[in-house]
Amino acid sequence: MVTAVAHTNIALIKYWGKRDANLIIPYTGSLSLTLDQFYTETSVNFDQNLDRDEVSIDDQSAANNSWQRVHDFLEIVREKSGAHLNAKVVSRNHVPTAAGLASSASAFAALAAAASKAAGMNLNNQELSRLARRGSGSACRSIFGGFVEWQRGTDDADSYAVPIDTPHLSDIRVVALTIEKHQKPISSRRGMALSVTTSPYYPTWVKVVESDLQSIKSAINQDDFTRFGTISELNAMRMHALTLSSDPDFLYFNGSTLDAMNEVKRLRHSGIECYYTIDAGPNVKVICQTKNVKEITTTFSKLFGPDKVIVAQPGPGIKYL
Ligand code: ADP
Ligand code: DP6
Ligand code: CO
Repeated sequence: MVTAVAHTNIALIKYWGKRDANLIIPYTGSLSLTLDQFYTETSVNFDQNLDRDEVSIDDQSAANNSWQRVHDFLEIVREKSGAHLNAKVVSRNHVPTAAGLASSASAFAALAAAASKAAGMNLNNQELSRLARRGSGSACRSIFGGFVEWQRGTDDADSYAVPIDTPHLSDIRVVALTIEKHQKPISSRRGMALSVTTSPYYPTWVKVVESDLQSIKSAINQDDFTRFGTISELNAMRMHALTLSSDPDFLYFNGSTLDAMNEVKRLRHSGIECYYTIDAGPNVKVICQTKNVKEITTTFSKLFGPDKVIVAQPGPGIKYL
C-alpha cells in the first residue's frame, strides 16, 4: 500500500476550458499558489482479491460519478504500468469536497502519486504532473509547492506544470472564507465545457489569459504585490464573466460571495491592501500580505463567524507517507 499527500492550489490566472477533453489539454496556461491549509491524503493498494475497484472518500463509499472518475484514472495507470489488478483507494479530504476549494486538484495529485507508485512506476515530478492532469486539470499544479505555472502545451507530452522558484512575494497569505461547504450544482468540468461551446467571449478569454499570464509573472519577478493582486482579481472576474455569458447562463456566486467582495473593496479603500479571487464555487479567497492578516481575519470573522475564516500560506508539493 502506498500513501501520498497533496495540497490544493488556488489559481491566480485561471484554467477554464479544454482544447482536448479526453487528454485534458487546456486552451490556455494558468498560474497558481499551492496552499498549506487544505490537502488530500490517499492510499492505494492493488489487490488480487478485489473484483472491482473500491473507492472510499471521507470514510464513505464513493458515489457513482466519483467512483467512475477514479476508476477511469486507475485504468490509465494500469495501461501505463502494465499492472492489471483492481485497486482499493482510501482517500480523505482536508478540504470541503466539490465546493470550489479545489478538492479535485489535491485529490487527483495524491491519487496520481499513490497509484503510480503502488503500480510499480517510478515517475519524476514532471511525469507525475502529466499523469495527475488526466484526472483533473488543476491537479497537475498540485504536484509542486509555492507558485506554479501550468504550461498549456499542445499534447499529452508537453502539457504539465512547472514550479516558479522564487524568493519573491514570500509573505503572501490567502485568507480563505469557507462560506459554503456544500457541493456546487455545476462541476468545474461541466461549467467550463459550457463556456467553451456557448460563450461568445470565449475567444477573447484565450487572448486575455496570455497577457494576464505574462503580467503576473513579471509582477512576481519584480516582487510587486500590488500588480500581482490587481491582475489576480481581474483575471478571476474575467473567468466568471464566461459563466454569465454562457447559454444557459450560470453563476457560482451567492449573496455572501458579493458581501465578501464588497468588504475586500472597502478594506482596500481604507488602506488595508487585499484582493479577491474566486474559483468555481461561492467561496472567496482574500489575497494579502502578513502585515494585514490580523485586520482582515477580524473583519471577516465578524461578518461570517471565526470558524469560516482560514489563513493559508504557500504550501508544499507532493509527499509520500
Ligand atoms: P472542486 O472545486 O472541489 O475541485 P470539482 O467539481 O472540480 O470541485 O471536483 C469535485 C469532484 O472531484 C468530486 O465530485 C469528485 O468526483 C472528485 N473528488 C474530490 N475529492 C476526491 C477524492 N478525495 N478522491 C477522489 N475523487 C475526489
Ligand atoms: C475555476 O481542474 O476542477 O478552479 O479539469 O475538469 O477536473 P477538471 O476541472 P478543474 O477546474 C478548475 C477550475 C478553476 C480554475 C483553476 O483551478 O485553474
Ligand atoms: Co476542481
